[in-house]
Amino acid sequence: MAGNRTSIHGQWSSRWAFILAATGSAVGLGNIWRFPYLVGENGGGIFVMVYLVCVLLVGVPILMAEIMLGRRGRQSPINTMKALAADENRGQGWQIIGWTGMLTGFLILSFYSVIAGWTLAYVVRTASGVFVGTGAAQVATTFNELVSDPERLLAWHTIFMMMVIIVVSRGVKGGLEQAVRYLMPALFVLLLVMVGYAMSTEKFVEGMRYLFVPDVDLIRQKIENGQFFGDVFLNALGQAFFSLSLGMGAIMVYGAYLPGSSSIPGTSIVIAMADTGVALLAGIAIFPVVFTYGMEPSSGPGLIFVTLTVAFAQMPGGAFFGTLFFCLLLFAAWTSAISILEPAVAWLVEYKNMTRVKAGALAGFAAWLLGIGTVLSFSHWSFSFPFAGQVKTDGLFDVFDTLASNILLPLGGLLIAIFAAWVMSTKSSAEELGLSKTAYRAWQIAARFIAPAGVILIFLNAIGIV
Ligand code: PHE
Repeated sequence: MAGNRTSIHGQWSSRWAFILAATGSAVGLGNIWRFPYLVGENGGGIFVMVYLVCVLLVGVPILMAEIMLGRRGRQSPINTMKALAADENRGQGWQIIGWTGMLTGFLILSFYSVIAGWTLAYVVRTASGVFVGTGAAQVATTFNELVSDPERLLAWHTIFMMMVIIVVSRGVKGGLEQAVRYLMPALFVLLLVMVGYAMSTEKFVEGMRYLFVPDVDLIRQKIENGQFFGDVFLNALGQAFFSLSLGMGAIMVYGAYLPGSSSIPGTSIVIAMADTGVALLAGIAIFPVVFTYGMEPSSGPGLIFVTLTVAFAQMPGGAFFGTLFFCLLLFAAWTSAISILEPAVAWLVEYKNMTRVKAGALAGFAAWLLGIGTVLSFSHWSFSFPFAGQVKTDGLFDVFDTLASNILLPLGGLLIAIFAAWVMSTKSSAEELGLSKTAYRAWQIAARFIAPAGVILIFLNAIGIV
């Protein structure tokens, strides 16, 4: 049984539609672009292991909490938190979850759109066949030429942001739902094709070992240097939030459109499994190619663009598969970007009575403007700074990404867990989640203690206190 509010923004047509939309939000550049390069920068298997622990113990309970709050409040995250706090006779302060979430969303969308722009550029490039038969060095040079050309990046960034605004303007059913139905499964199948190619490369076993076997010496070395928690754990935690779209209200606002009769726990598990599955498949497709062609796993944000392009350049039918792959990646990025903008759009519609079209254009424009910082990060405005034991080298892009993913998302998630499991009455949360007694208890322990303690400990460690 769910609460008794209704959403003014409409509702998903079924539980399945919600699963598709939420999976569309979760599966995106985070899985295919961000996950592999973080694995490469943080030592391979150790990172993957810590990441999986973060998803299970922190991600899944917060995913359930966020959908639950959304469905009970049935409004934009800001107004949902206001209404739910009032239900529990608490003050207006809890709105902060919605406000910081919106801010985080702008930060994320600003760079997300630029990277999605790279994907657009790669659709055109692979389709034109320029890469056929070329090798790793040349593919890397073409990548560097693209990212160091701000005009070109700005053009692709602009096109992508317009695509996002158009779909968001069309609303829950017309815009969001239609898009996800066929293209998500297609992406999955194409990733399997890429895994098939990776299996045929010389260094498949080495790639798998890198991904799944934690290197004990490296762990020891990182512990000795004080980097193990600070950077590996913090990056893994940030990635768990980023990849599951948690901590900023995206999943909360999608939950607001979920029919009352659908099971939240079952849905959450499907979403988390699909999301993790796609990330791991991307890793399996990429690392054997990295080793086979003598590339560096730690080469940063360009990793998949270079690696996969080399694979496409070498495999039979590469131009065709390459084009298809980048199209699907673009699509995955699109369905995620839409969900990043939705909390702000829903709020503008509720608060300012704007039409969705106007709200979408306004919020999209703000994120677009901020994106110029990322456009210039790989050329004129590149600078480095140290953060939690690592040196970040990509200017404002790294500032926005680190601030949003490693600080604001976990912080938002922490507050969401505290609100859902401590502030909200047990009766309301139990009613909304609809779990058996034991399962509810397990969720409550995870959301009350394990997830908050995990986030707090990792934070304290990153700033050098524990
Ligand atoms: N989860 C998306 C991805 O992995 C990104 C995202 C982050 C979407 C935060 C919504 C909110 O690409």
